[in-house]
Amino acid sequence: MERLDGKVAMITGASRGIGAAVAHALAAAGVRLGLGSRSGDDLGLADAVALPCDVRDPAALERLASATAERFGRLDILVVNAGVGAYGPFLELPLEQLDEMIDVNVKGALYSVRAALPHLLRSDAADIVTIASEAGRRGLPLEAAYCASKFAQVGLTRALDHELREQGVRCTNVCPGGVATDFAMGRGRTPEMPALQGMMRPQDIAETVLFVLTRPRHHRILEVALRPVTETSWG
Ligand SMILES: NC(=O)c1ccc[n+]([C@@H]2O[C@H](COP(=O)([O-])OP(=O)(O)OC[C@H]3O[C@@H](n4cnc5c(N)ncnc54)[C@H](OP(=O)(O)O)[C@@H]3O)[C@@H](O)[C@H]2O)c1
Repeated sequence: MERLDGKVAMITGASRGIGAAVAHALAAAGVRLGLGSRSGDDLGLADAVALPCDVRDPAALERLASATAERFGRLDILVVNAGVGAYGPFLELPLEQLDEMIDVNVKGALYSVRAALPHLLRSDAADIVTIASEAGRRGLPLEAAYCASKFAQVGLTRALDHELREQGVRCTNVCPGGVATDFAMGRGRTPEMPALQGMMRPQDIAETVLFVLTRPRHHRILEVALRPVTETSWG
């Protein structure tokens, strides 16, 4: 198992949910952090760099990556986490929500990698971990636009793996099913829906990210798929 203490990570969408859980897990493992979200919340992690950073804004991402690398002298890990979702019959999805999913999930992921990669390439052992989704592995009912955005994230990360492997950057898709966060309760879903029962916790995903990052450097994990026991395997 590789130790993470002394490493430096940048996390998008770090203020709540999975991003916040990953931040706390990495901090506990001794990783120094650059945290981005629209609110710029520092999660009470006094040593962290925390900046308002909307992933739709490439300049804001470059500021976060540079500020993190400058404060700690390096950047080793990017966690592409910020994301939004909306569900429902395809033609009932307002155009604004369709655009937001593409802008945040697809363009936000591309911009995040563009901002962090020049710094990651200077690390001798770097990782990009994308919090994609089961919706990036299979088509799901009433999630067409969200699936499109998550397939794009999975494709981006898979392609980057080919391009960056020989330069010492490992690229991993983490693809959860339902996780109990604000997101899961969001637009088009209500707590009484069967799919919302028995979901995973953000900490479950954070532990998975830790597992990926602590693998010995002679191998890499391309994709992790995990689902709550209450979810079917095919839905
Ligand atoms: N929950 C699930 O069931 C589930 C399952 C599979 C995959 N995922 C994926 O996991 C990731 C995190 O989801 P979550 O469940 O933790 O959601 P969440 O609880 O809603 O948290 C989303 C985070 O992203 C930030 N964010 C939203 N829009 C942003 C933007 N434009 N720019 C920067 N940050 C933004 C939010 O902070 P601010 O509001 O402060 O910006 C917040 O920190 C997403 O990519 C999601 O697709 C979630």
